[in-house]
Amino acid sequence: MTDLVVRRLLVDMEAPIARHWCGGDAFRTALFNALSMSFPVGEQFFIDAVRNGFKALPAERQDPFRAEVQGFVGQEATHRRLHGLFNSHLERLGLVNEWAGRATQRLKLLDGLDPRHALGLTAANEHFTAIMADWMLRNPDLVGSDDIRLSTLWLWHSAEESEHKSTAFDLYQALGGNHEWRITWFRRVTMIFLGDTLRQTVDNLRRDRTLWKWATWKSAATYLFGKRGLIRQTYKPWRAYLREDFHPRQQESGLSQRWLAEHSDRYVPVGAAA
Ligand SMILES: [Fe+2]
Ligand SMILES: [Fe+2]
Repeated sequence: MTDLVVRRLLVDMEAPIARHWCGGDAFRTALFNALSMSFPVGEQFFIDAVRNGFKALPAERQDPFRAEVQGFVGQEATHRRLHGLFNSHLERLGLVNEWAGRATQRLKLLDGLDPRHALGLTAANEHFTAIMADWMLRNPDLVGSDDIRLSTLWLWHSAEESEHKSTAFDLYQALGGNHEWRITWFRRVTMIFLGDTLRQTVDNLRRDRTLWKWATWKSAATYLFGKRGLIRQTYKPWRAYLREDFHPRQQESGLSQRWLAEHSDRYVPVGAAA
């Protein structure tokens, strides 16, 4: 079991943010803004899925998971609160979150189903966030450094995603979730996540009036497919999830622990939330 610490971030998310806060780069800003827009709805769903999965375990098998589930809930609840504040700045900048409404409607389809479905979906999403987190921690300059509050927000979130990447997966396995459904959810999540990310990023750029600028497309090509590109660097770890013997811990890189150790002045540990 993983020991998950909940941390209070020492950043002031009330103060406004710059329009192109991510290194002055319109594309990267729009992409990260899109991801942030999905977090409050998505992370609430993951919290509920993990809580319900935990409750579905027979009482005698709950103990080994109890502390980790509390830590997971506390970490995700903190992420969604801070990204909620971040997202309210985006609204003031004229961006419109279309993703959250679509996701809410879609997730309702899982109401009343076996809790392993919500957990399978959560484990798949957590794999996505974990490999993106690793990419960010590997390339910390790409989240920009003009506003230290924001680079801290993104890298702290990445570090914690990497820390708790096994929680939903392990619960899914403990409840007897099978490989076929795990892969089915992973394929669905891949299609939906990529589609929604693209739609929201394009919408953000359109409202920002930077969609048809040459610099935007150049940046997209570089940071998606270039040497340090997101798609280029995450394709292999993405594929690994399809293997029957896959476990999230096989992709440990140590970058999460290193970031947390080197930036301990930017947060206060507060223990796990109930
Ligand atoms: Fe999160
Ligand atoms: Fe997460």
